[in-house]
Amino acid sequence: MLSYRHLYHAGNFADVHKHLAWIADIRALQKKPSAMCLFDVYAGAGSYDLSSLEAEKTREWQDGIGRLQGRSDAPESVRDYLHLLGEDRHRYPGSPLLGARCLREQDRLVCFELHPQDHALLKALFRDEPRVHVHRRDAREGLAALVPPRERRGLVLIDPPYERDAEYAEVPAMLKASLARWPTGSCLVWYPLLAAARHEQMLAALAALQPKSLFVHELRLPRKTSGLLGSGLAWLNPPWQVDELLGEAVDWAAALLDGRTSAKWLIQG
Ligand SMILES: C[S@@+](CC[C@H](N)C(=O)[O-])C[C@H]1O[C@@H](n2cnc3c(N)ncnc32)[C@H](O)[C@@H]1O
Repeated sequence: MLSYRHLYHAGNFADVHKHLAWIADIRALQKKPSAMCLFDVYAGAGSYDLSSLEAEKTREWQDGIGRLQGRSDAPESVRDYLHLLGEDRHRYPGSPLLGARCLREQDRLVCFELHPQDHALLKALFRDEPRVHVHRRDAREGLAALVPPRERRGLVLIDPPYERDAEYAEVPAMLKASLARWPTGSCLVWYPLLAAARHEQMLAALAALQPKSLFVHELRLPRKTSGLLGSGLAWLNPPWQVDELLGEAVDWAAALLDGRTSAKWLIQG
C-alpha cells in the first residue's frame, strides 16, 4: 500500500542533503559535453506547495531549506542549488524538477512514480517537456529494464519512503540487477538514520555488490524530525572528487542546520 506523501516532508534537512548531492553529481557529469540520462525512480510529485495544509502540519521545511533561503554567503555549489529552487519561496521543487532544470539539450530524465496522485501531478508538470519521461512504474523492476541508457552516461537516484523494512533489502536487490547491466552507472541512494539503524545492513549489502567505488556521506542532527536522527547517502560509482564536491556544500549547509557531517569510502576506486 502506498501511504507515503512527500508533501509532508518537502524541503526538510534530508531533502537539502539529498538534493545538494543530486545536483553535485549532475554537474560533475555535465563537465563533459556528451549526453547523459538521469533516472529518478522514486520521483514523488515533483513540486510542493510549502503553504499547503500538509506541509503546514509538519513545517519540516522551516528547519531545512528555510534556514538556507536568502543567504548571500553560500559557496558556489550551494548557490547553484538555491538558484535551481526558483523564485517562489512557497514552492519547493522535488528531485525530478531539480534534475529537469539542470538538463541540457542533449540530456534526458526518466522518472518512475507509483502513487496515482503523485504520478498524475508529475506527468502534468512535465507535459510540455520532451526530454522528461514519466512512467507509473515500479522502480524495483523498472530500473533494470531501462539500463544501460543509450547515452551510456548517467545517474540513478534511489529515494524510497522506507516505510516497509523490506525496502532495505529491495534497494541492494534492484541495484544488483542494474549494476549487472550497467557496471559504470553512478547511483545515489538516500537512506534515513533511525534509532533501529537498519541502514547498516543495507550498506553492507551494497558493499557486497562490489561496485567500483562506494562513498557514504551522513548528516546527523541533534534533534529528531519525524523520527529521523539524520540523513544518509550511499553513492555507488560516484564522480571523481565527490568527497570534495559534496563536502564543501554540505558542510556549509550543516552549520546552518546545526548538523554534523561524516564521510567515508567503503570501497575506494
Ligand atoms: C521519498 S519520496 C520521493 C521524493 C523525491 N525523490 C524528491 O527528492 O523530491 C518516495 C516516492 O516513491 C514512491 N514510491 C514508493 N514505492 C515505489 C516503487 N516501488 N516504485 C516507484 N515509486 C515508488 C512514493 O509514492 C513516493 O512518492
